[in-house]
Amino acid sequence: MIYLDNAATSFPKPEQVYVEMDKCMRNYGANPGRSGHKIAIEAGRAIYKTRELLCRLFNIENPMQIVFTANATESLNLGIKGLLKEGDHVVTTSMEHNSVARPLTTLETKGISTTFVGCDEKGRLRLKDIETAIKKDTALIVMTHASNVVGTLMPIGEVGAIAKKKGIPFMVDAAQTAGVFDIDVQEMDIDLLAFPGHKGLMGPQGTGGLYISQELDVIQMKEGGTGSSSENLLQPAIAPDRYESGTPNTAGIVGLGEGVRFILDRGIANIRKHEEELTDMLLQGFKEIPGVKIYGLAQPKLQAAVVSINIGQGDSGEMSYVLDKLYGIATRAGLHCAPLAHKTIGTFEQGTIRFSIGYFNTHQDIEAAIQAVRQIAAEM
Ligand code: ALA
Repeated sequence: MIYLDNAATSFPKPEQVYVEMDKCMRNYGANPGRSGHKIAIEAGRAIYKTRELLCRLFNIENPMQIVFTANATESLNLGIKGLLKEGDHVVTTSMEHNSVARPLTTLETKGISTTFVGCDEKGRLRLKDIETAIKKDTALIVMTHASNVVGTLMPIGEVGAIAKKKGIPFMVDAAQTAGVFDIDVQEMDIDLLAFPGHKGLMGPQGTGGLYISQELDVIQMKEGGTGSSSENLLQPAIAPDRYESGTPNTAGIVGLGEGVRFILDRGIANIRKHEEELTDMLLQGFKEIPGVKIYGLAQPKLQAAVVSINIGQGDSGEMSYVLDKLYGIATRAGLHCAPLAHKTIGTFEQGTIRFSIGYFNTHQDIEAAIQAVRQIAAEM
């Protein structure tokens, strides 16, 4: 099978992720931060190690400001709902995934309004439009770092600077970029960084995180046991305990740590270079096939390793099915949980076939995908 669905979840993972998760479950799978025995302490240390590795990756000062969650969606919900209150206004973009668009739409019933700044048909955002959308009661700017549909990179550094100048908290959805692109929360003025553990960070599903700046008072989504201040019936006020009630996904977090260690060892620039090269190859190949329409910028340097196409008027779901069934190529079709982005690029009705590249893809994988699309297009 040729796996080109890395934007949904990366597969396979680095060998050390499997090995260390197995070791954790067999040798020290105790409850971290609760009991005081040796293997509970070992489990707690392993979790802290992952926090430290993430700090190195994102240039976060204090490991305690990283909150583990089940995925980027949970992180986004925590940050958005924990920060906003009645009367607040939010600025976001028309390229967002439902993990941003749905919480914000739900909050409209609670008196929180949102401006969805329109992007162009390639998914590009104009900075000026962000500035114009800001009102005096704007309490959050939240946006994706790269579209999960067409890969278009957003100018998060520049938006961060605008947010800082206006004193507005800035939240980034790094679902498609964490682990592949440089993200520096200090340099980019990011106050809240939501990331999945199971995509570019190469950890297992069921992992993710949220960096919360010390300056913000984000209300927790749940209360419960933390292993700390147990005498108190109120939730501890300090991070990460405030947000991490209940037994954590220790083995998953260990796996995530190994994914991050792998990235730091290989070097993020090398990972990006490989993905960019394969994206270029895929785009060049698709450009030469009559009947194939490529969406987005089709410029590897300006996008994540995500390529969305259609073949003639063919149904994107059917095409993706044929790719899987006849050619053994895994892609994702339809709306990719991002209807606003599809409306923006003009594919709300047809959807697109999305090819998303990961670090373990090879030139042969890309060649096979080009060949398969060429054959399908020729037979239509
Ligand atoms: N958000 C993921 C995707 O784009 C699941 O496929």
